[in-house]
Amino acid sequence: MNQAVKKNNIYFHQHSPASADMMKEIHQGLSKKQKSISPKYFYNEKGSQLFDSITQLPEYYPTRTEVGLLKAHASEFAELMGKDSILLELGSGSSIKIRLLLEALKPKIYVPMDISEEHLIRSAERLAKDYPWLEIHATCVDYSKPWQVPDFGPGRYNAFFPGSSIGNFEPADAQKLLTQIAKLVGKQGGLLIGVDLKKDSNTLESAYNDKQGVTAEFNLNLLHHLNEQRDVDFDTSQFEHKALYNLDKGRIEMHLVSKENQEVQIEDKTYHFDVGETIHTENSYKYSPDEFHALAHKAGFSPEKVWIDEKNLFSIHYLKVFE
Ligand code: AVI
Repeated sequence: MNQAVKKNNIYFHQHSPASADMMKEIHQGLSKKQKSISPKYFYNEKGSQLFDSITQLPEYYPTRTEVGLLKAHASEFAELMGKDSILLELGSGSSIKIRLLLEALKPKIYVPMDISEEHLIRSAERLAKDYPWLEIHATCVDYSKPWQVPDFGPGRYNAFFPGSSIGNFEPADAQKLLTQIAKLVGKQGGLLIGVDLKKDSNTLESAYNDKQGVTAEFNLNLLHHLNEQRDVDFDTSQFEHKALYNLDKGRIEMHLVSKENQEVQIEDKTYHFDVGETIHTENSYKYSPDEFHALAHKAGFSPEKVWIDEKNLFSIHYLKVFE
């Protein structure tokens, strides 16, 4: 873990993000039979902004529903998690949801973690202004690599992982990540996590194919992000967004579909795309409460409580590390 830089009441912990291995990963993904690029490359500054816009869309129910649950049950979460805890937030993004909990939880230390560095810094600065009593340790983390957080010594540790971002991991990787979180929070530690529920494919597919085309722009921004790298030259006008629910796998899949037969030059390699061929850019797994409990159990967590909205759209789980 690198040395922290302190500015006002914020400590910045740089944990070098993806860029070093980015090109290697891109070549690997595009060399597969089903071409793919990791969804972590959505989140440059523009991508993070587009994601924030997605969360406001009428069709994108997860954020609204989760926020409703967080508001309704904040004091219950605080009771379960305890005050003065060390609170780690995974994928903190704009740090908006945590605001709903801070007053109730009154943590001793808040550790927002995100892959998008600029976004992380800006959000931490805004938060520091509004909560001058809070010690903030902003940490830039790529969850697909081994990662650490600063050591804060003994205390009660809780993690907060909202937004159903756990659904963007393959189940085996989700289990690994949960195992890592269990280690991080240790015995007596807990995890408050938002998980999108399985539901009819119409509701799901509309949430990822919004009428205004923001999700399409978010998906295509991946190629714009790659084009910022040296010697990457996608013609972004030659790809289009597609999202569908894969019922067998219980996941939304996002793809970028090639509109033409085309060649894309990346460094010294040329990739051929047939018309209709896709780059698989994201999975978003949906879990029933039982399915999610089974996954969490394999990672060392036992369920304490689940909250579900009245339309059965979204769940929040509080899990505790079992002895
Ligand atoms: C961040 N993640 C939980 C979002 C999701 O719903 O899987 C990402 C997203 N992709 C398209 N729309 C939203």
